[in-house]
Amino acid sequence: MNPHHRVVILTGATQGIGRATAYTLAESGCRLALVARHAMPLQQLAHELHVKGGVAVAIPTDMGEPDQATDLVRKTTAIFGKLDVVINNAGIGVYGALADLNEAEARRVMEVNYFGPVALMKAALPALKANPDGGLIINVSSIIGRRSMPNMGGYCATKGALERMAESLRLEVKSANIRVSTVYPGVTRTPFATNSLGKPTVPLRNPGLRGAPPAWVAQAILETIRNERRDVFITWLDRAFVLGNALLPSLMDRILLQYQRLREIR
Ligand SMILES: NC(=O)c1ccc[n+]([C@@H]2O[C@H](COP(=O)([O-])OP(=O)(O)OC[C@H]3O[C@@H](n4cnc5c(N)ncnc54)[C@H](OP(=O)(O)O)[C@@H]3O)[C@@H](O)[C@H]2O)c1
Repeated sequence: MNPHHRVVILTGATQGIGRATAYTLAESGCRLALVARHAMPLQQLAHELHVKGGVAVAIPTDMGEPDQATDLVRKTTAIFGKLDVVINNAGIGVYGALADLNEAEARRVMEVNYFGPVALMKAALPALKANPDGGLIINVSSIIGRRSMPNMGGYCATKGALERMAESLRLEVKSANIRVSTVYPGVTRTPFATNSLGKPTVPLRNPGLRGAPPAWVAQAILETIRNERRDVFITWLDRAFVLGNALLPSLMDRILLQYQRLREIR
């Protein structure tokens, strides 16, 4: 769809990928309902976008409290009169091998990364169905939602669960003209590692310093609004990782063990 004047709910808008996406979409003429937990940085971001000529409102919401999703959709449609696109971007990580996994933290990550996005998709369906152009749902997953990493199983499981739910939804809502896309970033340079729960079983080298710039993911999200592609990868290496795993999963086991050793400070 043409992004101009589209009403977009964007979760996780104040940092990292969400922040870069907010700027990119505002420049392309989208009207944004910006979502994160902390109100001050959210209002500050909405102000910055206004100064640059964008249209954005701040709607503080905790995606880990699925009951808040209905309110978020209601406020967005009350302000803008319609809803075109939902971007489930908010997410947190949890580090640690299964043997060290804290159950309360694992449950919290599942609430934020899975139950929250599911609640938002469900709450958004009536508004998207009522839209004469239909609607688009974009879930920001991860390449490690397609193939788990050691010591991050608690996080990878949440992304895998959301992908499977989105696959069902895509077919359920096709006749209502609602499209569902998934974006799969690889490692991206954001505060994600610092914001994650748990701690690596073995400390990691330079978490958050490596990876693709968040602007690349933001550009891919804008392209996804334009071309509504089903599955979207950011770099050829991300695509090769997923394809390689599908073709040769045992080889990928060996590569990941080696990669993990290189990342760990021993
Ligand atoms: N960075 C990577 O390497 C990478 C790779 C693959 C996929 N991803 C995925 O990309 C998405 C964005 O990641 P990122 O790296 O940009 O993360 P980030 O830099 O840590 O930013 C997270 C954003 O989400 C918000 N947020 C966190 N918990 C929330 C909650 N309960 N409710 C609402 N908003 C919440 C934060 O604001 P508040 O704290 O104010 O709520 C912040 O704006 C996530 O889904 C992540 O899993 C990231």
